[in-house]
Order: sequence, then C-alpha cells, then structure tokens
Amino acid sequence: MPLTRKAYRAAILHSIADPAEVGIEASYEYFEDGLLVVENGKISAIGHATELLSTLPADIEITHYQDALITPGLIDTHIHLPQTGMVGAYGEQLLDWLNTYTFPCESQFADKAHAHEVADIFIKELLRNGTTTALVFGSVHPQSVNSFFEAAEQLDLRMIAGKVMMDRNAPDYLTDTAESSYVESKALIERWHGKGRLHYAVTPRFAPTSTPEQLTLAGQLLGEYPDLYMQTHISENLKEVEWVKELFPERKGYLDVYDHYQLLGERSVFAHGVHLCDDECARLAETGSAIAFCPTSNFFLGSGLFNLPMAEKHKLNVGLGTDVGGGTSFSLLQTLNEAYKVMQLQGARLSPFKSLYLATLGGARALRLEDKIGTLHAGTDADFLVLDYNATPLLSYRLKQANNIAETLFVLMTLGDDRTVLQTYAAGKLVHQR
Ligand code: GUN
Ligand code: ZN
Repeated sequence: MPLTRKAYRAAILHSIADPAEVGIEASYEYFEDGLLVVENGKISAIGHATELLSTLPADIEITHYQDALITPGLIDTHIHLPQTGMVGAYGEQLLDWLNTYTFPCESQFADKAHAHEVADIFIKELLRNGTTTALVFGSVHPQSVNSFFEAAEQLDLRMIAGKVMMDRNAPDYLTDTAESSYVESKALIERWHGKGRLHYAVTPRFAPTSTPEQLTLAGQLLGEYPDLYMQTHISENLKEVEWVKELFPERKGYLDVYDHYQLLGERSVFAHGVHLCDDECARLAETGSAIAFCPTSNFFLGSGLFNLPMAEKHKLNVGLGTDVGGGTSFSLLQTLNEAYKVMQLQGARLSPFKSLYLATLGGARALRLEDKIGTLHAGTDADFLVLDYNATPLLSYRLKQANNIAETLFVLMTLGDDRTVLQTYAAGKLVHQR
C-alpha cells in the first residue's frame, strides 16, 4: 500500500488519564498550535507544530484550521439504532415508555428496507455529532445489525453492535426464543465479529425480558468466542428494579442476576446503573465491568441521578451514553451538558477535563479499546474531530471571552452540539463535513 501521510494543524487537546486518578493537570495534553500527523489511517505523531514540522518533508500536505480544536472522536457507550425514529416520545417513564412507544417502533425493523434506511440515517447522525465509535443496540431482528454493520464497514468505522435477545415480557411480534436468539446471535458473530474494525456485543435487552434459559445461552456465547462484548441495562428505574426482584426472587439483587448467568466481565457494559448500591459497584469493579452513564435519558425518562462519585470511589470504568431514543440527543457534547447538571443536583462538580475523559478515553477504557481509540497518541486509529469555535454567533462571542483551554472546553460542552462539529475523520478519512 502506498504511504499516505497528511498533517492537520490547529489547537489540539486530548485526555490521557482519568482526572480522578492523576489530578486534572496530568489528565490531558494541550497544544495551542499543534500538529497531528496521520499515516495510512493511524496517527503517526502529535506535538507542537513548530517542533514537528522540522521533522517532516517540506512537501507534506497540511490542512491548517483557524479558531478550531482537534480532539479524539467521541465514544458513545450506549445507544439504540432502532429508536432513531422515536426520540422525544412524550409522557412515560421506562416500563410504560417501552410498551407504548419503543416496542412498536422497533417492530418496524421486520422490514429490511426500513432497517437499511434507518442504519444510514443513524450512522450519518453519529458522524454529524462527532461520534466515531458506538456500542449499539439493534432490534430483535438480525437485519438491524446486518444493515448497520454493512454501512459501518463501507466507511471503515470502529463500531460494536448486537441483536437484542428478548424472549418474554414483550409483545409476541417482537420476541425471539432462547434457542433462536442463540442461533441468530452466533450467525452474526461469525459474520461480523473482528471483521475490519467491527465487533459484536451479545445483547440481552434487560433481565425482565429474558428467561433464565436465554440468559444462560447469552453467558454461553460469551464463553465461546474471544473478546465478545456484552451489553444490557441495569437499575435504571425503581419500578424496574422491583420487577427484577419479583422475577428473580432467588437472587440477591439486580446485578446478581447477571452475575449468576456469567454476564459480568471486562467487555461487559451496563447502561444506567442509577440505583446501584455500594456492593454492586464493588462487584462491577472487581469483574472489570463498565457502566454507561446516560444523563439525557435519565432526565428525560425521570429515572434519577447517576452517582459518579460512588463509581469513582470504586474505580469503576464509566463511559458516556446518549441512550437515544430514551436519550434526547445524538450529541455527546449535549450529553455532557446534562451530565454537568446531574452532578450539580448532587452538590458535586464535573470538571471539563473529566467530561472530556468520559466522552473519549473513559469510553475507550470501558470498551477495552484504549490502545486503539480515545486518545490521539501515535499508533492509535486516526479517528478525530475538528470543532469549530465559530459554529454559532453565540459560541463565537462567548469563546472570545474564554481565558484558557479549561474555559474553552467547558463552553464547548455547554453550548456545543452537532453544529460545533466541522469535520469528522475515521481511520484518517473525512467521513463528515458540516
Ligand atoms: N431497558 C430495557 N430496554 C430499554 C431501552 O430500550 N431503553 C432504556 N433506556 N432502557 C431500557
Ligand atoms: Zn438503553
């Protein structure tokens, strides 16, 4: 393959550690006049432009941005593709919301043409919002995952997805069986897991919609293939937590249901965790499992406030999730805007550098992909964004008053959204231009 080397010059910022572990100052690298060098889809160098330029050939192609910030691509650790058409559904909390809006919407994926159409819209929306990797719930239909992976493969995106497994407590038109969910998941794993930058996630929807037989087979699949992911929901809503106790009276609690069926582990991501107790956080940490913190969803569905300080106390891996369509935005910038308010309502703070961490390196660590994505270190995939300081008149004016990168970053996360993302690059290729 011929060497393609390009350089991008702008302010550059990336998170390199968790501020909760190393303190804020040691958690990031910032180059006011930075240069990012990309070779064959990977980052080959990052540094101060003036220093790096002298090491490069004089004729290297350089794209120079003014009033812009280069960051790693954002990582969404929890989102539902088949809920794209139902964002902002009025009036219900989780269990009624699922029955009234979610299940009917997801049933449309029985139609292949619909699955193709939504996969296309969904991926464009991710990239417009600067999300370069997502951990994605499909519907119960295998074609929801096939359509998504086909579209992601064409753009060489790093994506993780799985078909929902759901064999009870849902309408007949939307359930599989323990056996069929196993067979269909296996076929998807064989076709997609490890192909290019794609990975498969075994996806039992949540404990109430799976029989013990289905949860057993989900655990079995995880044992059959290396590096498979597992995604599900946990302790999002108080009625849901009570329901799980009724359905599984023999288990100690919600997490213990998943633990019993061997669904915890280093590639297991549990969405929400709003009502987890201390012991459950300790067990998640001990098994290397991660939580997807989904603030816009937790507000919208009235689920509650995620206790990030408790997760930090247990050194639990936490990523950020939009949870579209329970969440109300594809934008992880807007998701961070709401995350800040979740902390405010608990008398805590969310520093802009912790926010940056959650949306990039923290997500990468939750997915065990920190050697490939989440930072701009040399050797990692060239998945990065160009954020535009002049995206809107207000942003432009507000940022002129900012005195340092901390303030600039915080304002980008408070006022920023899809309009802020000027360009998105995946594996070194431009995949979105505003
Ligand atoms: N719990 C089970 N299914 C879902 C879902 O689709 N969205 C959310 N937010 N929670 C769930
Ligand atoms: Zn969800």
